Amino acid sequence: HLGPREADLPSAGLAGKFDNRQVQRGFQVYKEVCAACHSLKYVHFRDLTKIGYAEAEVKAIANQWVIEQPSINPETGEAATRKNAPSDPFPSPFINEIAARAANNNALPPDLSLMTKARHDGPDYVYSLITGYQNQPARLLKEFPGAKTPAGLHYNPYFANLNIAMPPPLTADGQVTYADGTKATKDQMARDVAAFLTWTAEPNLEARHAAGLAALIFIGIFCFLAWGAYQNVWRDVK
Ligand code: HEM
Repeated sequence: HLGPREADLPSAGLAGKFDNRQVQRGFQVYKEVCAACHSLKYVHFRDLTKIGYAEAEVKAIANQWVIEQPSINPETGEAATRKNAPSDPFPSPFINEIAARAANNNALPPDLSLMTKARHDGPDYVYSLITGYQNQPARLLKEFPGAKTPAGLHYNPYFANLNIAMPPPLTADGQVTYADGTKATKDQMARDVAAFLTWTAEPNLEARHAAGLAALIFIGIFCFLAWGAYQNVWRDVK
């Protein structure tokens, strides 16, 4: 299968930082598209304050979230749901794995919290995967007729076994209407949701980059001092 195309995210590289406006747009894509199938069980609504949402906004987002938290009625023991609070994680839209598989051709939509860490070149992979759906190349079919994508699966050269159960999630430009007015092309939405999922998997990325750079600078200075000491110690030796 194909290696990913670069998403060119500002978080990439030694000194990479998040662009909170982009991460917020990515959240909008997650909320309006991906959340129909994928949970973010390691991310809580209140974490959104770290990408620039105000507490009141977070409360409203949690409260209006279409998928509610599963809960048990303590009186009757019956399964029920309740509205989300800022302290809740982003819930799965499916009550359990059986329901999830039943709705997805027997495949299980994985939790996306750590997806950009779980896959090689994760941010680029997510970007490439969701924009990478295409028809199966005729050459491949001619050579390997048995490799025809089975009904219910979708050919995607970025997916490890080439046939993925996830239908193309981004189907049209303007599928999301961005709050910041950015034009929501498919490519833009894919980059933005990749940026958001980079943040969910590593909210402390900026601190890690800063510490890494400081360590490199320190090592540089230290090398210079060590070299100076070496010169000094061996000064009189011919
Ligand atoms: C798998 C991302 C929307 C259903 C995946 C994977 C990623 C992903 C990264 C894992 C691929 C892998 O294992 O390497 C996204 C994003 C979405 C989105 C970013 C929104 C833009 C959806 C929607 C559905 C869905 C709306 C349901 C209609 C699935 C299923 C799988 C999957 C069933 C498992 C595929 C398999 O194992 O063959 N998704 N997804 N996804 N997704 Fe999505």
